Amino acid sequence: MDQRPTTKRSAAAPTGRFITFEGGEGAGKSTQVKRLAERLRAAGAEVVTTREPGGSPGAEEIRDLLVHGEAARWDPVTETLLHFAARRDHLTKTVWPALERQAWVVCDRFADSTRAYQGAGQGGDAVLIEDLYRQVVGAFAPCMTFILDLPVETGLARAAARNEGGERYEGMDRTFHERLRQGFLEIARREPQRCRVIDATAAEDAVAAAVWSALAEHRQAVS
Ligand code: TMP
Repeated sequence: MDQRPTTKRSAAAPTGRFITFEGGEGAGKSTQVKRLAERLRAAGAEVVTTREPGGSPGAEEIRDLLVHGEAARWDPVTETLLHFAARRDHLTKTVWPALERQAWVVCDRFADSTRAYQGAGQGGDAVLIEDLYRQVVGAFAPCMTFILDLPVETGLARAAARNEGGERYEGMDRTFHERLRQGFLEIARREPQRCRVIDATAAEDAVAAAVWSALAEHRQAVS
């Protein structure tokens, strides 16, 4: 009998309610995840908010390995594998079960972060990332991705002021963060149906309003 792990389950999970937020450090994703979830709940929906790396007990343990320690602690391949290991656990334990019971899932980062951080930022192999995506995630993808975009200096200053958990990545040099920003913008250019770039220098309320109206517009277009 073939004992290899299967991605079969991913094909069954509906994707229409899986929304991701992406962006560099200090873009305000976690605030916007909360704001969108509140608004969906006010409209009567069940909403699960979650994050990557993390979002399930096992993936949170892997997160600790990724966000702490020296910048050069992992080489790009090891780091990519750790992110996909965490992602698989998160999908099977948290995301897919929620979607199967018709809940919305609003997630702070997903695979675009691997493309941008390990691919564009760290110079990792884009082919490896896409191969792993197919094997680990399968045909499953977010229905909509908001890329919160802002200048690198502004984002790093905000993140430092908040003293958040991702200090290992914040410690990488400025050119890394610039490649990262361009990496996210390139993903948005490649996948305009799924991705919306939102100006994250705007006030929190304005960003939340832009997210809500883009989601409403998207749902009208696909219904
Ligand atoms: P957070 O600070 O947004 O919670 O994310 C933790 C760090 O993990 C952040 O600096 C970005 C990084 N990251 C990657 O490098 N690759 C990934 O695939 C994901 C999901 C996050």
